[in-house]
Order: sequence, then structure tokens, then C-alpha cells
Amino acid sequence: METHMIFETHAHYDDEAFEADREELLDSMQENGIDRIVNACASLESLKDTEALMEKYPFVYGAFGIHPDDADKMTEETLEEIRKLCKLPKAVAVGEIGLDYYWHKEEHEHEIQKKMFRAQMEIAREAQMPFMIHSRDAAKDTFDIMKEHRAEEIGGVIHCFSYGRDMAREFLNLGFYLGIGGVLTFGNAKKLKEVVEYAPLDRLVLETDCPYLAPVPNRGKRNS
Ligand code: NI
Repeated sequence: METHMIFETHAHYDDEAFEADREELLDSMQENGIDRIVNACASLESLKDTEALMEKYPFVYGAFGIHPDDADKMTEETLEEIRKLCKLPKAVAVGEIGLDYYWHKEEHEHEIQKKMFRAQMEIAREAQMPFMIHSRDAAKDTFDIMKEHRAEEIGGVIHCFSYGRDMAREFLNLGFYLGIGGVLTFGNAKKLKEVVEYAPLDRLVLETDCPYLAPVPNRGKRNS
């Protein structure tokens, strides 16, 4: 049998959706062809939880950072904790960090998100580690901040890429990769299908974003 091992670049196995069967699931990954997993932090608690998963499972690596949803909960101590975690041997990226104007529409929320995005980009630069960027309904601000921080010198992934071909070209020109997952199978993913046809195959990375974004026909169910 020919085997193709899969490198899952973006998962959230620390999520409470996996509380009941996390161990069972992770123990079955390798026999199911999943060779490596990057667990991406999102909430404040996920920093510790991702560290624990990384220590327990040899094939789990960590991306350390705080999602824009929780930017308002971050303090100087949080930034210090991320800085420390990035020094661990199996830390591979800073993420997921960025801007989400879809769920957060207030100007003062955007200001906090931008501040924490910039602060975490600085941590990535110090650690010489790629970014894992979450950007939703915030293409221009994301791109402007990336340019301002010379993100092209560091590189990384635009996680769950959700913009059109023109924005894809801009991010690809900065040397970034596009994270592609279950959304591609959705009936309303016309724009994303165009992007995937347009982008060079070696600039796309596979991700589940589990427990979210299960592909059709399991849309809406827990992803794993
Ligand atoms: Ni994610």
C-alpha cells in the first residue's frame, strides 16, 4: 500500500470539544496517516494546554500566541509567557494571531487587536519564528501591519484564507503560504476555489482548524 503521510498544520486539540476522547483520538492519528500536527493556541488557557500536548505526544508541535477574540484579555504577563514558550524546542510558530473584524466590529476592539497583533509579531521576530495569521474581514489592516513589521523577512501562513485572488497575490508576494481546509468543500466557497486554482500548489498548506470547519458532508459537526 502506498502511504501519504499528512502534515496537519493547524489544529486545536486542546479545545473542550475534545474533552471526552482527546487521548483516544490523538493515539489513533498516526495509524490514520497523520504524521505531524501543529496545535495552534487560541485562548489564554490554550498556552499551557498546548505545551502539555506537545510534551505528551512526540508528533505534536506548538504554535504559541493569542487569537484576536481574546486580545482584550491579554496582559504584559501573557506576552512574557508566549515569549518563554517560543523558546521550547518543539515550538514552531507564533499563532494564531491577527485581526477579526467579523466578530468584533467596534473601533476600540480593533485598536486592542492591532496592538496585540503588533506585540506578538515582535515576539515572532525575536524568536525568528514564522507567523500563523488569523485574518477575517480585516484584509487591509492585516496587510498594512504585516508590511509595517516587514513580515516578508519572517514568513508564515495566512490561516483559513478567506479573501479573494487579489489579496492572495499580495500575501504570496510577501512569501506567505495560504492555509486551506474544510471551507473549500462548502457550496458557497466559489472565491476560495478560485484562489486555490490560482495559487501555486507548493504555497498551500493543509489544515483542519479542528474542532471547527469540518468539510462537507460533515459541515457543522465536530472536526477531527
Ligand atoms: Ni484556528
